[in-house]
Amino acid sequence: MRVVMIGTGYVGLVSGTCFADFGHDVTCVDKDVEKIESLKRGEMPIYEPGLAELVAANVAQDRLRFASDLTSAVAAADVVFIAVGTPSRRGDGHADLSYVSAAAKEIASSLSRYTVIATKSTVPVGTGDEIDRIIRKERPEAEFAVVSNPEFLREGAAIHDFKHPDRIVVGTNDARARKVMDQLYRPLYLNAAPIMVTDRRSAELIKYAANAFLATKITFINEISDLAEKVGANIQDIARGIGLDKRIGSKFLHAGPGYGGSCFPKDTTALIKIGQDSEAPIRILETVVAVNEQRKRAMARRVSSALGGNLRDKEIAVLGLTFKPNTDDMRAAPSIALITALQDMGAHVKVFDPVGMQQAGRILNDVEYCENAYACAQDADAIVIVTEWEQFRALDIGKLKQLMRSAIMIDLRNVYRAEEIVKSGFAYYCIGKGDPNQGQEASRSEPLPVE
Ligand SMILES: NC(=O)c1ccc[n+]([C@@H]2O[C@H](COP(=O)([O-])OP(=O)(O)OC[C@H]3O[C@@H](n4cnc5c(N)ncnc54)[C@H](O)[C@@H]3O)[C@@H](O)[C@H]2O)c1
Repeated sequence: MRVVMIGTGYVGLVSGTCFADFGHDVTCVDKDVEKIESLKRGEMPIYEPGLAELVAANVAQDRLRFASDLTSAVAAADVVFIAVGTPSRRGDGHADLSYVSAAAKEIASSLSRYTVIATKSTVPVGTGDEIDRIIRKERPEAEFAVVSNPEFLREGAAIHDFKHPDRIVVGTNDARARKVMDQLYRPLYLNAAPIMVTDRRSAELIKYAANAFLATKITFINEISDLAEKVGANIQDIARGIGLDKRIGSKFLHAGPGYGGSCFPKDTTALIKIGQDSEAPIRILETVVAVNEQRKRAMARRVSSALGGNLRDKEIAVLGLTFKPNTDDMRAAPSIALITALQDMGAHVKVFDPVGMQQAGRILNDVEYCENAYACAQDADAIVIVTEWEQFRALDIGKLKQLMRSAIMIDLRNVYRAEEIVKSGFAYYCIGKGDPNQGQEASRSEPLPVE
């Protein structure tokens, strides 16, 4: 089948490449000419494990190409995906649909045969109706169907997630469009991935509800972890103890510095607005967003209290900047609020991230970028682990201690076993446990695996 992917970002590039890998003929389009030119040269505009190799293989097989103009590709397409950004609209938190509307208009002018237009971008309920209206207005005679096909992949594991989804959601009442989508996803269907067909509005809401639920789960465990600290319990044991209950599940129960990233913050805010506008406010989510917002800055207060309550002229080493490991995505990363708060308190901040420093450079001001974790620790008054990259899980603690001005570690991801760090002479502060420096931490708990 001939597929066009409009928007060649974290979702569009991965989805387009995976469709090509299934044997479809795919054109990835982006209005960012520089991005398209770099892809044509074989350079990846984003960091996603395994992506460069998969792109190269499919380009070599002539199943994947890149273009900055969609005209000819759309004219010949069976399915055109809209995978453009839907960031928060400045000022009110609604999803900004201007990129989606612009893409719909551009698609309309190039349609030449029956085409399914599938929305992969996360969009508010009713956006499918709006896309339909835009295209019908421009091209009343065109044969097309607008389908919702939300994407659930996770950055950092995007290729695996796309190829082994828990489910594929297709929102349409159009039988012909359904057949086209069935054929498109047939390779996954053969892999036993369930395809769930529903009406378009339900599909649109499924995506927001899924992200809202996951954000709520994270925020719940974060609040329970604060309580665990107060009462001398251990959050890792609690997470395991509730997560083994199949009704709850063990994923997204890692206490930390608050959720961030390119999706949860903007999608939770957008869903709150949708609820309010529909006179069905989602109060639980309003609380989740408020709690999470406060939590990010509260992490800086933890750092400050570990250093006796005063950060003026202190050197703080921050390990990990991206919102999670295995991505270079810095959008709404908790590190941003944390670092800004540390700076507000008078600290000088040094940072290291394995792949996120280039993107961080566009967002963070007045930080010192270091070559590796040890250069970052040099002369630091405290080290803060913010993102649980694998390479931070087995740091040479003795070497860190020698390099640092004072041996203080604030581990916001519970990467280390407290007793070991304390034994090596560090003052160690983590999340959701009694004070390990007083020997209060329950010793059984194991650091949790990466999710
Ligand atoms: N990033 C994720 O993990 C993820 C997961 C699931 C769903 N989503 C959703 O998918 C959508 C895309 O997210 P992303 O992270 O890939 O965004 P992104 O910002 O990485 O990529 C969007 C791309 O669209 C391009 N674009 C914008 N308007 C265009 C147009 N008219 N024609 C061609 N290209 C255009 C931009 O130049 C950009 O390269 C969003 O709605 C997001 O909520 C993202």
